[in-house]
Amino acid sequence: MMRAMKTAARMDSIGTETAFEVSARARALEATGRSIVYLQIGEPDFDTPDNVRDAAKRAIDDGMTHYPPYAGLPELRAAIAADTTARRGFAVEPSNVFVTVGGKGVMVYAILALVDRGDEVIVPDPGYPIYDSITRFVGGTSVPIPIRQENDFRLDVDELASLITPRTKLVVINSPANPTGGVLTRGDIERIAELALRHDLVVLSDEIYARILYDGAEHVSIASLPGMAERTIVLDGFSKTYAMTGWRLGYAIVPPSLIKTYSQLVINTISCAPTFAQIGAVEALTGPQDDVDAMVVEFKARRDLIVAGSPKAPSHHQRR
Ligand SMILES: Cc1ncc(COP(=O)(O)O)c(C=O)c1O
Repeated sequence: MMRAMKTAARMDSIGTETAFEVSARARALEATGRSIVYLQIGEPDFDTPDNVRDAAKRAIDDGMTHYPPYAGLPELRAAIAADTTARRGFAVEPSNVFVTVGGKGVMVYAILALVDRGDEVIVPDPGYPIYDSITRFVGGTSVPIPIRQENDFRLDVDELASLITPRTKLVVINSPANPTGGVLTRGDIERIAELALRHDLVVLSDEIYARILYDGAEHVSIASLPGMAERTIVLDGFSKTYAMTGWRLGYAIVPPSLIKTYSQLVINTISCAPTFAQIGAVEALTGPQDDVDAMVVEFKARRDLIVAGSPKAPSHHQRR
């Protein structure tokens, strides 16, 4: 019998996303008849809106079953560019858009593209685990920036400044955040942009939850600030906003200087994202948005219920 296969040394430093492992265990328990409430993964329990599903079904029937261009279908890249320009307030050309397999692809490519052995990447803690995992995988060092409840689950920009060293290459921000729901203010974003400009840093701005905002909170994309589009990779996707987790479609908005790099990484890994799914995504972006709004209303109602039933956070006064 073959002995256990020896994997490459680099596999010693890769992490994981435990939410997927917990999901598998929860499903196994459910199969034994237990009643399970899934809270572990960012998975909307709604089905993908009908108009999106219909568009993808028609696409299959119309023969959209071949390889699309590696960066995405032109009509989807154009729709993403228009949507980004309109919602995030900075000019995006279709050539800056890469459609990937999940938003996860965008972060993996950003780190593969930019982080050399010994480079430092500042990552939110707690935060989405893959930023840290892939940084370590490529031989970089992830430097956690604590996210605290006392600061409304926003990073402290002075603390961020204190973590920057000559080896810092990339800063990852995620607003609205997983897992805390924290939202950076315009003031925070402006100060982070100043730091990025002053220290010549690249920002990976994970904005996958940008449409899921409550109580009038504002989403500010750091790429919309002066001088920042050239040094920011914006990550978004269809999983959360349109309840399309299983379609595996995300996208990157990259500066012109990274177009060739992203092209190489996409071609070397996925070749392209599924064609008919991309037709569904065009409908998601350009069709009616009522389902998105209805899902956000429901998420907010659930959030309010959980917060009302949770122990109170110490007030600002008590904290001092
Ligand atoms: C913060 C954050 N970024 C990115 C992703 C990636 O999502 P997907 O690969 O489904 O687009 C997730 C999914 O949970 C997430 O929570």
